[in-house]
Amino acid sequence: MSGNGLNIFVALEETVDAGSLRAAFPATPLQVLRFDEARNERGTALQETADLVVVGCIDARDEALDLVSAATRQRPDRPVVVLYGGSPNGFLERAFEAGADDLITLPQSGTELAFALEKALARRRGASAGGSTGTMVTVLGPKGGTGKTLTACNIGAALALGGTSTVLVDLDLQFGDVGLALGLRPEKTIYDLAVAGGSLDGEKVDGFLAEHSSGARALLAPMRPDQAAAVGTAFLREVFEILRARYEVVIVDTPPAFTPEVIAAVDGSAELCVVGMLDALSLKDTKVGLETLEQMGYPSADVTLVLNRADTDVGISQADVEQLLGRKPDVLVPSDRAIPRAITDGRPIVVAEPRSNAAKAFTALARRYAAVGANGAGEPTPANGRGRRRRLRRGG
Ligand SMILES: Nc1ncnc2c1ncn2[C@@H]1O[C@H](COP(=O)(O)OP(=O)(O)O)[C@@H](O)[C@H]1O
Ligand SMILES: [Mg+2]
Repeated sequence: MSGNGLNIFVALEETVDAGSLRAAFPATPLQVLRFDEARNERGTALQETADLVVVGCIDARDEALDLVSAATRQRPDRPVVVLYGGSPNGFLERAFEAGADDLITLPQSGTELAFALEKALARRRGASAGGSTGTMVTVLGPKGGTGKTLTACNIGAALALGGTSTVLVDLDLQFGDVGLALGLRPEKTIYDLAVAGGSLDGEKVDGFLAEHSSGARALLAPMRPDQAAAVGTAFLREVFEILRARYEVVIVDTPPAFTPEVIAAVDGSAELCVVGMLDALSLKDTKVGLETLEQMGYPSADVTLVLNRADTDVGISQADVEQLLGRKPDVLVPSDRAIPRAITDGRPIVVAEPRSNAAKAFTALARRYAAVGANGAGEPTPANGRGRRRRLRRGG
């Protein structure tokens, strides 16, 4: 993605080595200036045309903060990223206050830096395009069999039928069954894309998608479990970004675990959808799942909670559910014998039995996500700063 006419302005304290930055953007000529040069007339002029400003220091220096606020004032719409190698002493918070969009703690490898910087750029591109970046929704659940794939496929099909351009990604890399649930034959899978070689772009990725009759596209899971290892997080982040740029909604189905791939998906998602089932064990696991997300910076209130098989009589009342989970489910999906039948036929229930209560529940959920996209709120890092908190924790 680098080397495409990108203009990156870098101001570094004398003690910071530009080596890993150059490694991060091998094809981009970086303008690296020292703090005093960055503040003089030439430095200011060079900054004017930059797409991204990076300010790096080891010591918590006020000059660094001055540079950040000057760059923000100069062009408020341009991302400013701070690299910091010192001790956590409140400097990072001050850098945010000065206008930094992202903070990266040093040392970092070239690859890690490239990600963080590309992400800052992508986020800003999406924001300035007024929401033309798609909403990514990751569907999560603590256990197998709770209805994650069912939910992902049905909201995907419902969105596509409603005219929203939608793509599904099957991240259950070992045992994914989105293809089966949608009756799609996996001619090409995410594995084939991962090993195809060469750089990725929208057209190339589209060539690996299967198309469902609803209009939804799908990037299917590998055919064999041993192929899963070829799908890395670096590759996935790039794929997610490409898909978000091309589709209004990207829906990610996941295995029942917080694998690095799932974390990458969560990280790139504006919306999270947790699917739990109405039984005592599943509810306990759902609670643990919600708590884990909370620790990752996603408060439970920001997560859509789907309670599947919600009408099953297992001696647990709605009040019990709420007390246990500390919140109300957003969507209740009843048990329906038509569901396993529809899955056997490779048809989502919203297509097979659109008038069933289960189909209505999924369609309502799909509308919610279509509305998020339409409001231009599909950014993975909303203004409430939860993304910032996550990055701070991870880096520190
Ligand atoms: N509400 C429901 N009514 C009837 N059967 C269901 C319902 N939800 C899930 N199932 C059954 O459970 C199976 C597992 O669901 P699935 O979505 O594949 O779970 P997960 O992806 O969480 O492992 C489905 O194949 C379906 O037969
Ligand atoms: Mg599944």
